[in-house]
Amino acid sequence: MKITDILRAEHSVFHNLFDHIEATAPQFKSLAEVKSVALSLTRSCPHSHTEDELFIDPLEHCFDQIGQKETFITNTR
Ligand SMILES: [Fe+2]
Repeated sequence: MKITDILRAEHSVFHNLFDHIEATAPQFKSLAEVKSVALSLTRSCPHSHTEDELFIDPLEHCFDQIGQKETFITNTR
């Protein structure tokens, strides 16, 4: 299995997870519940780090040329 297949499969999981969060978030009763979900998303998967290493960093020099620098490069990195 290729790494891109794994990343694609993880995207499918994230889409379902985000749909679930979108549906259930209006019932959250506290900020702690929101923070708990956010924390579980950020700590549960090295997905973004893997994408950065394999795709974003090697292609970073091309983003400005195609007018997409702000799309791919965020202040969170
Ligand atoms: Fe991704």
